[in-house]
Amino acid sequence: MKIIRQSTILFFACVLLLFVTGCANNADKNSAPSATPAQENTKTKGAQKGEGETLVVFFSRAGEQYTVGVIDKGNTAIVAQMIAEETGANIFELVPADDRYPESYDKLTEVARQEQNEKARPAYRGETPDLSKVKTVFIGAPVWWGDWPMICYTFFEKNKDALAGKTLIPFSTHEGSGLSGFDSKLSEACPASNVGEGLAIRGSTAQNNRDDARASVKDWLTRLGY
Ligand SMILES: Cc1cc2nc3c(=O)[nH]c(=O)nc-3n(C[C@H](O)[C@H](O)[C@H](O)COP(=O)(O)O)c2cc1C
Repeated sequence: MKIIRQSTILFFACVLLLFVTGCANNADKNSAPSATPAQENTKTKGAQKGEGETLVVFFSRAGEQYTVGVIDKGNTAIVAQMIAEETGANIFELVPADDRYPESYDKLTEVARQEQNEKARPAYRGETPDLSKVKTVFIGAPVWWGDWPMICYTFFEKNKDALAGKTLIPFSTHEGSGLSGFDSKLSEACPASNVGEGLAIRGSTAQNNRDDARASVKDWLTRLGY
């Protein structure tokens, strides 16, 4: 009789133990997870680079464009947005202060050529964001006649003192010229800044094959330590 009572107690003790551990596991599953994998990633990026330490600056022009037809969103704008999304950076677009760039691709090439010949420095709209806390600036544009569009030089020259000691990382969209010396031209324009490894993406890839473009952006950011 005593043996039966002891086994019954043992049995209930085991059931109780299983019940308690089961509840504990469920509690783990039901309570709010500390972070989803995506959140974990963002947290790491934030912790690694710090809030407001990274900025994306870009120029891009929607309208009729080489090989891609009439586009609502410029090729470089697409890449700039991907970089901002992947790094958690703020973004600033260089928008001309006046209506200087025609919708027609052919006419645009003439205006751009003339700006380049004149070494024009077209003004951009709005205030440059506060650069004091920024450590890294991704700066991108379409290749125009083998060079940065002149409005980018406006940005470089206006802010070269504020950019001293910071890391500048160039990116381009193009249709064959690649980075077209964006990195060395940036170093010349901002000699007190450090220029990092650039990225060149075909405009037509950014526009029409966004998964490939994003994969290139991600690989490059990984190499840069993001
Ligand atoms: C005025 C002008 C000049 C261009 N010059 C070049 C060039 O020298 N090399 C090149 O590969 N692509 C050149 N392109 C093509 C653009 O770099 C390419 O289409 C780019 O993706 C456009 O970007 P966006 O849509 O952001 O303006 C030129 C396009 C324009 C409008």
